[in-house]
Amino acid sequence: MEKMWAGRFSKALDRNADDFNSSIRFDCRMYAQDIKGSMAHAAMLAARGIIPQEDADQILSGLEGILADLQSGKLEIDPAAEDIHMFMESELTKRIGDAGKKLHTARSRNDQVALDIRLYLRDECAVILKQLKDLIAAIYQQAADNQQTIVPGYTHLQRAQPIMFAHHLLAYAMMFMRDVTRLEDACDRMNYCPLGSCALAGTTYPTDRFAVAQALGFKGITENSIDGVSDRDFCIELLSCFATVMMHLSRFSEEVILWSSWEFHFIELDDSFTTGSSIMPQKKNPDIAELVRGKTGRVYGDLMTTLTLLKGLPLAYNKDMQEDKEAIFDAVDTVKQCLACFAPMIETMSVKQENMLAAAKNGFINATDLADYLAKKGIPFRIAYKAVGQIVGYCVQNNTVLEDLPLAVYQQFHDAFSSDLYDAIDLKHCVETRISQGGTGAESIQHQLETVKAFLQQH
Ligand code: ARG
Repeated sequence: MEKMWAGRFSKALDRNADDFNSSIRFDCRMYAQDIKGSMAHAAMLAARGIIPQEDADQILSGLEGILADLQSGKLEIDPAAEDIHMFMESELTKRIGDAGKKLHTARSRNDQVALDIRLYLRDECAVILKQLKDLIAAIYQQAADNQQTIVPGYTHLQRAQPIMFAHHLLAYAMMFMRDVTRLEDACDRMNYCPLGSCALAGTTYPTDRFAVAQALGFKGITENSIDGVSDRDFCIELLSCFATVMMHLSRFSEEVILWSSWEFHFIELDDSFTTGSSIMPQKKNPDIAELVRGKTGRVYGDLMTTLTLLKGLPLAYNKDMQEDKEAIFDAVDTVKQCLACFAPMIETMSVKQENMLAAAKNGFINATDLADYLAKKGIPFRIAYKAVGQIVGYCVQNNTVLEDLPLAVYQQFHDAFSSDLYDAIDLKHCVETRISQGGTGAESIQHQLETVKAFLQQH
């Protein structure tokens, strides 16, 4: 196929170089955005008297026809085209003749591609935001169902203090809510239209960039034409949002994997989100959670790819920038796939409340409460802490737990102990009395649930 830019050249591009240079294989996925941008551009060119209205009308109906044919499968994207922008122009010209050759007036592929990526990411971010909200809703439901489920809270993966399982889950809801607002913020910053920056310097035609921006739903236009074609900050920002989403999903996955092991046995994943082994008949593996954890690395890689890609580039457009797309597409695909599986996996997991309680009873997780009990009787906390440490050591040596230790033994360690200590270390009591704001007490959990609910209604 002859290149559109062939006029200046006396020889065709080498075959390998041609393949290497082409981006149609991946940028074809932006065809709908490319058409949308071209339609807004053509309408503006006519409105400003830059091309005749009849030509613009032909362009618009030609582009509509291409869109319909691509969507129905009647038209296939030609893999020999250099990129999606070139393909569209040549297909349009094939269909409507010379009018098609006027579309690229006052425009360059440099501002066109900068526009298409923004439009593409705007569409995809809307999908991802919806998926994040579905996940938050699934977490909300599990939390609402587990407001009374006592489970050990961990630090260093050692049993630390008793908490309600709802409190643990709501921590994830908070993270994903931040992911939503972070993504919304980044989308807002991206929402400025670069079209009309042209190759880098603007144009001699009397274009109206505001009209194009408005037609395409942007908040405004990018103010500097060099920046308009050179900027990929929005890609980096979004990739960083996606990397953070994946980091959160990965931490959650890690816990789901641990909790579903026989050692913990805190949850059981639904059969529809687990797999079996080809050799061990008893196995039920948390592959989905493991894959989400594994795929986190890809998205981090996509962020690094893009950061590294841009770091040495002089202004304005350089062909290196064509490499931004595969990284973005991979990250978008990965995040979408992960979220599509993760939300229903959480929604359908069953919680083994008895096992959580049994674990909570076995790790001295009420030791802080016992120290607080003494401290509330006027014993300095550090002294109380030391006495309780010795008591725990005694229990470990004698293979018993705080609940079963006789009062007389307690009193050997400190004479301020009396029989009300047993109420103070009752697990339910320990959780219920953590009344501080944001703690695991019932009121705080209720408050958090309301926050999450309000968030889902507002966003
Ligand atoms: N395929 C190119 C890309 O993705 C489009 C822009 C090409 N511009 C140019 N001056 N070669 O970046």
